[in-house]
Amino acid sequence: MARLQYSIKLSYVLLAVCSLGLLIRCRASDEERKVYIVYMGHHGEKEPLSSTDHVNMLQEVVDIRFRDRSLVRSYTRSFNGFAAYLTQEEREKLARKEEVVSVFPSRTLRTQTTRSWDFMGFPGNVHRNPTVESDTIIGVIDTGIWPESESFSDKGFSHPPRKWNGACQGGVNFTCNNKIIGARFYGDSLILMPSQKTTRDEEGHGSHTASTAAGNYVKGTSFYGYADGTARGGVPSARIAAYKVCYPNMGCEAADILAAFDDAIADGVDIISVSLGGNRPTELADDAVAIGAFHAFLKGILVVQAAGNQGTRSKVSSISPWLFTVAASTTDRGIISKVVLGNGTILTGKAVNTFDMKGRQYPLADGEEIASFECGEKDAQTCRIFCLDPSKVQGKVVLCSERRGVDEATRAGAAGSVVQSAEFPDFAPVVPLATSGLSKPLFSDLLRYFSATKNHTVDILKSEEVKNLDAPSVASFSTKGPNVLYPNILKPDVTAPGIEIIAAYSPVSPPTGYDKRSVKYNILSGTSMACPHVTGAAAYVKSLHPDWSPSAIKSALMTTARRMNPKRNQLAEFSYGAGHIDPVKAADPGLIYEISTDDYVKFLCGYGYDESFLGKLFGVTVHCPGKNATSTDLNYPAMAIQVASSGTKNSTTPFTAKFDRTVTNKGSANSTYKAIISKSSQYNITVNPSILKFSALNQKQSFAVIISGKVKDKTMLSASLEWSDGVHNVRSPIVVHTNDLNIKD
Ligand SMILES: *[C@@H]1O[C@H](CO)[C@@H](O)[C@H](O)[C@H]1NC(C)=O
Ligand SMILES: *[C@@H]1O[C@H](CO)[C@@H](O)[C@H](O)[C@H]1NC(C)=O
Ligand SMILES: *[C@@H]1O[C@H](CO)[C@@H](O)[C@H](O)[C@H]1NC(C)=O
Ligand SMILES: *[C@@H]1O[C@H](CO)[C@@H](O)[C@H](O)[C@H]1NC(C)=O
Ligand SMILES: *[C@@H]1O[C@H](CO)[C@@H](O)[C@H](O)[C@H]1NC(C)=O
Ligand SMILES: *[C@@H]1O[C@H](CO)[C@@H](O)[C@H](O)[C@H]1NC(C)=O
Repeated sequence: MARLQYSIKLSYVLLAVCSLGLLIRCRASDEERKVYIVYMGHHGEKEPLSSTDHVNMLQEVVDIRFRDRSLVRSYTRSFNGFAAYLTQEEREKLARKEEVVSVFPSRTLRTQTTRSWDFMGFPGNVHRNPTVESDTIIGVIDTGIWPESESFSDKGFSHPPRKWNGACQGGVNFTCNNKIIGARFYGDSLILMPSQKTTRDEEGHGSHTASTAAGNYVKGTSFYGYADGTARGGVPSARIAAYKVCYPNMGCEAADILAAFDDAIADGVDIISVSLGGNRPTELADDAVAIGAFHAFLKGILVVQAAGNQGTRSKVSSISPWLFTVAASTTDRGIISKVVLGNGTILTGKAVNTFDMKGRQYPLADGEEIASFECGEKDAQTCRIFCLDPSKVQGKVVLCSERRGVDEATRAGAAGSVVQSAEFPDFAPVVPLATSGLSKPLFSDLLRYFSATKNHTVDILKSEEVKNLDAPSVASFSTKGPNVLYPNILKPDVTAPGIEIIAAYSPVSPPTGYDKRSVKYNILSGTSMACPHVTGAAAYVKSLHPDWSPSAIKSALMTTARRMNPKRNQLAEFSYGAGHIDPVKAADPGLIYEISTDDYVKFLCGYGYDESFLGKLFGVTVHCPGKNATSTDLNYPAMAIQVASSGTKNSTTPFTAKFDRTVTNKGSANSTYKAIISKSSQYNITVNPSILKFSALNQKQSFAVIISGKVKDKTMLSASLEWSDGVHNVRSPIVVHTNDLNIKD
């Protein structure tokens, strides 16, 4: 009892502290009870379920003192389940119930922070179907949206499409219009201030992603003159439904994300964009995004997700074959920031630096010279928070060996900073004071100049735009494969522009997150920015082919993707998948790889999921055809296998793999496709048959691909199969890797 009182008191204190905005993380939980998602699978009902069953289940297992405040939310519209505060013991009791598929903790996911469309060869005047495009509804699960942005004005839009079954429940000070036709917010397990109960975007991220996917044409947008031009989304005539699941400093709760899927599917959106992710792959039964997206698939809705921003291999968390997983890459426009040393040498770094030092040289300082009383020289060198002495940095440019040092340089009031961006040197963040981020070798040059010269000074120039000659190349921060849970599914699927993207922003959120500026358009980088490019492209393809399934649209974008250079991108296909999207080509792919619900059943059987789990997941009786041998045969537009390495030093492992595939003709009725296969001394590929003849649209033809050869340990082999009728080139990457390429936790 004492303990209970303590926790109740603690939550009151938390509530008080939270309403004053003093705590970073404010959650309505105590130390014993956590939010769990109780997932109960597919329900075939047209009408929403009643939540009474959920309440009754909780009555049975939850301690009487907590019964009436255990339920967080019921999922009743598109699938069956609920989120609730549970103890470990209660969780186990629920998990044993017949009707429960899985019970898993609600994890916290994170956001994965206009010229880009032109760069993809997708100009503003491309052939469109405006009537259908205007009936297309994009669901954006994110940080909310800024309804007054010009990108979301409804000038010229008529009433929402008839099929729209959603609502405008935007909360405090939020009105929808004929562009933003739906708005909902969640945060069920968080303690929100009254003013936070709104779909209004306090962070900017959701407005950015929504406008990249479906924002209006807006002329003359720029960020302080940079990235000047016309901002537009992929489908400017489409409508937007915003589902707010992320809150400042608190991230995005899985329980809320699942609630957003439950609503978006039932509301009648056509495509769902999720620029959010976890930091590691999760089992299907515990993965809210994969579960939500699966139910979306059952209703013909494609879900596009960001690959993640950890940069590391094997960490891609968007791994299910029904998700469309997007990596981030450069466009031909780059933004640089030059540092002019006192001796005249110029070092070129990355930052969106809008501040002008007016050609003046400022003294450089680092370490002990600028350290605050509390901190040592080492902490001052990295510019750790509170480790610089404001009186010692006045009028100086400080050297920081870590990128985030710019925050402390700003706080302490330095004239500028030069930071080392060792890990991810290839993108330009917006900075709050004159700053440049130097790669490791250039930062070393600067340190050499610093120690060799007594009178060391620098001038940091305002940023310039330059032509990126090697674009597109995948961002260092873009999380890479291989797919550790489903090695036969190549992830990420494709890459799209995600570096230095300008799009709509929230004027109440400073462009860097904490400076004093307010902007309507901001430049951001991340797989979060790449994801809505693919959402927009997918909506474009759908607007031209309204009857195409999610897998057909995904196949079209994958098989027409532009080939990337494996030598210039570490981990090749594991960084960019099938390549860089080409929306215009995707509108006419020739052949597509269709995937049905049955195919997914067989695929999951092949990975060893049991029939009872799958039966509940799909809402039908499932008979697995046999445990193995089917997982390479999912009709995926890419082919991948993992082979067990022999484990001896410098050895090679022989392999043979067979992939069965079926293509559907969407090109010309009478056509003949020939297989073109890549060649190498390391492998042989045979395709049987190697010629496919079609005499009708929607006709299907099957073939088998056999690849055999040798792969070196800790490496991968890249190959490809391309079907060509002389007009269409339908390309699938083929990847073989050894299991020791994976990083294991
Ligand atoms: C609603 O939000 C807008 C934009 O922040 C603000 O200008 C306006 O004052 C708000 N209205 C109310 C009633 O809070
Ligand atoms: C230090 O260098 C700056 C720029 O190179 C120059 O303007 C200044 O006069 C120098 N100061 C001294 C004391 O040499
Ligand atoms: C200036 O200093 C840098 C770094 O030590 C050095 O690489 C460069 O050669 C110097 N330039 C001149 C003109 O001395
Ligand atoms: C499944 O795989 C195991 C081991 O690789 C093999 O022994 C067995 O015959 C396979 N079963 C089927 C049905 O293919
Ligand atoms: C396709 O070819 C067949 C036989 O060559 C022919 O009868 C048919 O008219 C052709 N169809 C089209 C749409 O060209
Ligand atoms: C490819 O096939 C040829 C002919 O059958 C064979 O000689 C060669 O060793 C094979 N290469 C590999 C890497 O398996």
